[in-house]
Amino acid sequence: MKNFLKANDIAPVNKLVAKGLQHKKDPFVSQHLGKNKTIGLLFFNSSLRTRLSSIRAAENLGAKVWVLDAGKDGWNLEFEHGTVMDGTTAEHLKEAIQVMSSYCDVMGVRAFPKLIDREEDYSEKLFKDILHYSKVPVVSLESATRHPLQSLADLITMKEVFPERQKLKVVLSWAPHPRALPQSVPNSFAEWCNAADWIDLSIAAPIGYELAEEFSTPATTTSDQVAAFENADIIYTKNWSSYSDYGARPHVAGDWIISAEKMALTNNGKFMHCLPVRRNVVVADAVIDSKNSLVIQQAENRIYSAQAVFAELL
Ligand code: CP
Repeated sequence: MKNFLKANDIAPVNKLVAKGLQHKKDPFVSQHLGKNKTIGLLFFNSSLRTRLSSIRAAENLGAKVWVLDAGKDGWNLEFEHGTVMDGTTAEHLKEAIQVMSSYCDVMGVRAFPKLIDREEDYSEKLFKDILHYSKVPVVSLESATRHPLQSLADLITMKEVFPERQKLKVVLSWAPHPRALPQSVPNSFAEWCNAADWIDLSIAAPIGYELAEEFSTPATTTSDQVAAFENADIIYTKNWSSYSDYGARPHVAGDWIISAEKMALTNNGKFMHCLPVRRNVVVADAVIDSKNSLVIQQAENRIYSAQAVFAELL
C-alpha cells in the first residue's frame, strides 16, 4: 500500500510538482476520482492551512471528508503498548486507527514531535504505528520530522513563479522565534529541494542549529546569513529548535530577523514562509508585505499539493 510521508514516496518530485500545477489550472477535472470516496483527516495538533486546504483539495476531487481533532473530538488515546489503561486514556491507538481507517479511503494524519527524546521523534514511532494499523493509504499532514505537503506546495510555488529557470538559488534561513519549534518544515524543505535538479539550495543557520545531515546534505550550511543572501532568488525562512542539543534554543549572537536590508542583498529575491509567522520577530513587515512576498500564494498552493497527492492515492 502506498503512503505519502516524504519526497519521492508516491511519485518523483518533479512529476508531483507538475501535477500540482495541472490541478491548479483545472481544479475540477478529476472529480471522478473522489466519487463515493472519503478522505479522513486526523489532527493531533492545531492547524489552519493544512486542515482547510486538505478539505478543499478533497472537495475539488469530488470526495467527501471527515475531520477529527484527537483529544478534543474523540476519546483520550493511549499510545504505549502493554499498558494497564486504568488512568486517563480511554481508547488505544490500535483500535482507533483501525476503526477510523475503515471510515475512509485515504487518511491524513498530523502529529508533531514532543521535542524531548530525539531518538523517539526521529524514529517516527507514532507514524509507524499508524501505518501498521491503518487499512488505507496514509498521508502525512506533518510528522515529527517532515511536512511533505508543505514542501510540495513550496516547490509548486517556486516553479510557478520561475517556470523557465534551469537553476534557482534558494536559501533556507533560520530566523528567531520565542518558542522551541520542530525541525519538520526545514527538514522537509531541504529534502525536497535536494531532490529537485532545478534547485541549488544552501542553508543559513546559527551555530548549534544545523539540521540533521540526512536532510541537509548535499546542500551546504553556513552561519553567515548575510553572505548566504547574496544573489539569492528565494529566501525561505523558518525557525527551528536545535537538533544537536535536541529541542533546545541555544543563544544566538547577532540579528537573524529577515529585514528589507538583508533582502536587498538578494537577486530581487522572493520571500517565502510556510505560515503562521510572527511578524517583526521572524520577518519585518516591510518584507512580508512587499510585492516579493509569496506567502499567500504558497498557502493557496497547499490546496494543489494536497490535491496532487490525494489524486495519486485515490
Ligand atoms: N503551514 C502549515 O502547515 O500551516 P498550519 O499549521 O496552519 O496547517
